[in-house]
Amino acid sequence: MIVGYGGLWNIVDEAHVSTIATHPQFRGNGWGEVLLAAMIRRALTLGAAYIVLEVRVSNVVAQNLYKKYGFETVGTKTNYYHSNNEDAYDMRLNFTNPAAYRETFDPRFEALKARHHFADQYTDVRPIAK
Ligand SMILES: CC(C)(COP(=O)(O)OP(=O)(O)OC[C@H]1O[C@@H](n2cnc3c(N)ncnc32)[C@H](O)[C@@H]1OP(=O)(O)O)[C@@H](O)C(=O)NCCC(=O)NCCS
Repeated sequence: MIVGYGGLWNIVDEAHVSTIATHPQFRGNGWGEVLLAAMIRRALTLGAAYIVLEVRVSNVVAQNLYKKYGFETVGTKTNYYHSNNEDAYDMRLNFTNPAAYRETFDPRFEALKARHHFADQYTDVRPIAK
């Protein structure tokens, strides 16, 4: 059973959350937070300066999750979603001071790991140098 999925792009110093979703039967149990926190940690490992994403203006649940980790709304893309022409909010998390962000983020991530008993083989793995 796949409980959730998250997709993260990293291009130079920009990280972009392309996808995040949890299985409808497992929502509200913290797995979306696990996915987002894992992508944030991966972005920090890769040295990203910031993370961006788009979210439907009606998707308050996802917006709450992003705000919980410091994302802010920085703009709007009009008619971004073709299925119903809904607007998207541009949300962004700046790592202005990565060390300071990690001071609060790292204990939170460890608590998530302890609570959800997951093995992390992703967030702290650096790419192989060429
Ligand atoms: C958005 C999504 C990934 C959240 O996943 P989840 O596993 O349900 O979320 P979690 O249980 O980890 O909750 C994390 C936070 O999300 C927010 N949240 C979750 N459920 C919520 C609800 N019913 N109402 C309001 N906020 C909610 C809260 O901020 C919550 O933190 P809290 O528990 O401290 O209040 C999930 O709802 C989903 O897959 N939605 C459909 C796909 C989607 O909209 N993806 C986002 C595209 S931009």
